Amino acid sequence: MQKWLITSRETCFFTLTADSTAKEFSSPGNPKSYPAYSRCQWQIRANKGSAIIIKFKSFHIEDDCFNDFVAIYDSLSPDSTRAITKQCGLRPPTNPLEVVSSGNLMLVNLITDEVRKPGFKATYTAIPITAAGSCGKSLTDSTGNFTSPYFPSFYPPSVDCSWNIKVPDGKYIKIEFNMFRLKEPGVDPNNCNKDYIEVLDQKYCGEKSRLVLSSKSNVMEVKFHSDESYTDKGFKLTYTAFDPVNPCPGQFACSSGFCIKKEQHCDGWNDCLDMSDEKNCKCGDDQFTCSNGLCRPQFFVCDRANDCGDNSDEKDCDCGRAQVRCGNGACIMQDFVCDGKNDCLDGSDEVSCVASPGVCNDFSFKCKNQQCVNKVNAECDRDDDCSDGSDEQGCDCGTRPYKHNRIVGGQNADVGEWPWQVSLHFQTQGHVCGASIISNKWLLCAAHCFIQPDPSYKMTSSWTTYSGLRDQNIQDKSVQMRNLKTIITHPNYNDLTNDYDISLLELSQPLNFSNTVHPVCLPATSHVFTAGSSCFVTGWGTLREGGTVAQILQKAEVKVINDTVCNMVTEGQVTSRMMCSGYLSGGVDACQGDSGGPLVCLSEAGKWFQAGIVSWGEGCARRNKPGVYTRVTKLREWIREITSL
Ligand code: ARG
Repeated sequence: MQKWLITSRETCFFTLTADSTAKEFSSPGNPKSYPAYSRCQWQIRANKGSAIIIKFKSFHIEDDCFNDFVAIYDSLSPDSTRAITKQCGLRPPTNPLEVVSSGNLMLVNLITDEVRKPGFKATYTAIPITAAGSCGKSLTDSTGNFTSPYFPSFYPPSVDCSWNIKVPDGKYIKIEFNMFRLKEPGVDPNNCNKDYIEVLDQKYCGEKSRLVLSSKSNVMEVKFHSDESYTDKGFKLTYTAFDPVNPCPGQFACSSGFCIKKEQHCDGWNDCLDMSDEKNCKCGDDQFTCSNGLCRPQFFVCDRANDCGDNSDEKDCDCGRAQVRCGNGACIMQDFVCDGKNDCLDGSDEVSCVASPGVCNDFSFKCKNQQCVNKVNAECDRDDDCSDGSDEQGCDCGTRPYKHNRIVGGQNADVGEWPWQVSLHFQTQGHVCGASIISNKWLLCAAHCFIQPDPSYKMTSSWTTYSGLRDQNIQDKSVQMRNLKTIITHPNYNDLTNDYDISLLELSQPLNFSNTVHPVCLPATSHVFTAGSSCFVTGWGTLREGGTVAQILQKAEVKVINDTVCNMVTEGQVTSRMMCSGYLSGGVDACQGDSGGPLVCLSEAGKWFQAGIVSWGEGCARRNKPGVYTRVTKLREWIREITSL
């Protein structure tokens, strides 16, 4: 131990003096890689009366914060009570780490194991301590916004601020957070005993995706406190004065303070997030009245999903003696469960059957050596299920190299968030369809992007593909442009019904996988995407019906819709090669220009699998008109025949 300390001081110990001009420092070996078992320390000092800000320009440490990390302290020694933050992984350039001290001392430690990564490059600058330590203000405008100190850098330790808002007599005040991250290791967000925001005698901490708070008078105080250890990104909020008699003009007022569209009141969907829009409603004829007073679409009754929240829509659903209910609501004889036949039609009677090894049915995962595994979603789940290991082969897919904040505001995708997303440009018209990367030379797409009255859509020379793209106007060196060698549309594609809407595109040159270019996982034929689970659809499609295509890649969270419901709302237009996803309440959907792009779902093992291909829909985001997608599992064998993937 002693010996190690001495060598490390000799080889990797630095003392730096910060002043008002930014100076650079970097980890040893950067931009190549740091040595194995690095133990480095940078002690940074500034003049009394100054604080220090460190901005990481690049940051790539192994993705395991236990053995590999950068730790930053608000002192010169690695004292955990003065730790500001501990970070690891690869950070995208859009989410740089920037940290501020409370005083004139700071320590940066780099600890690694044998795996070597590029490390970091950073700048350090001295800033006046008054700027770091004081914050808050009196605000009298009827609307405005403010943030934690140094936002979006981490706020410094040991600060207290207070904002006093005063609006005209008779008005109340509402604050709405666009970002809320005050997280400290080991702190329960229900007991904010370290860093917090205090509003109306209530303390808030942790990480929140949406938070709205309202006053009961024309004054409001927002207090912010950070203690001496662990800081975070902080918060950003907007405040507005409102009329207490009519808080949401022309809209419905949720108890939580949100304003939602009038039509969303009593529509069976929890739009307010606190259910206040769905209480005390009179249910319509096509609706079921839950025991708790909620109204839900009649066809949700007995579909095995707890749509009411109190399970009342699933009570009295007995199918009769010796029968069980399928995922789609149908009743089958008990004896048919796990008999290897698809009795329910949605496969739900066969998915979780613990049959003896070797017993095969349509729902088993088939290993290369023909062995059958009767386990839900056995492929790439990090468990060895096949004796030949084939269930865990080809699994370098469905992960994203960049670490992302769990909550990234808005619908704009972050750099590298969907590294399998591709943009297809047609002739000189720019983006027209999406596609996904399934290997370094194959893309998965819809057939209808190529089968059009104009025959030039079928010609490879009409198309250019862009991988690693986020902003259509920024085509820098991280973007990989490729031409097409072959376009293979499914021979059974039917342009009247949209059945078999799938195509495979072979690239003329292979892609180089990178932080922003990476394949998605293809689900096995037996893979189950459960109705009600959350998935994401991405694309540059139009932001609304009849609108123009997006410049920045968009993402939307959508739910897998039960097949019976899907068939009902599309009036029988879906085939077994299709699936529905979206919301029956409308509002969130894919749209024109998203076609061919992926619908992806996160597996339990943390990998993204492509469940669907954007295919068609009646309009976009309309009520009771969810998006219809090509069902990838059904066409998995066709993909294998052509690509051997
Ligand atoms: N067919 C459309 C296209 O060419 C995509 C439609 C998806 N529509 C929907 N509502 N989900 O881009």
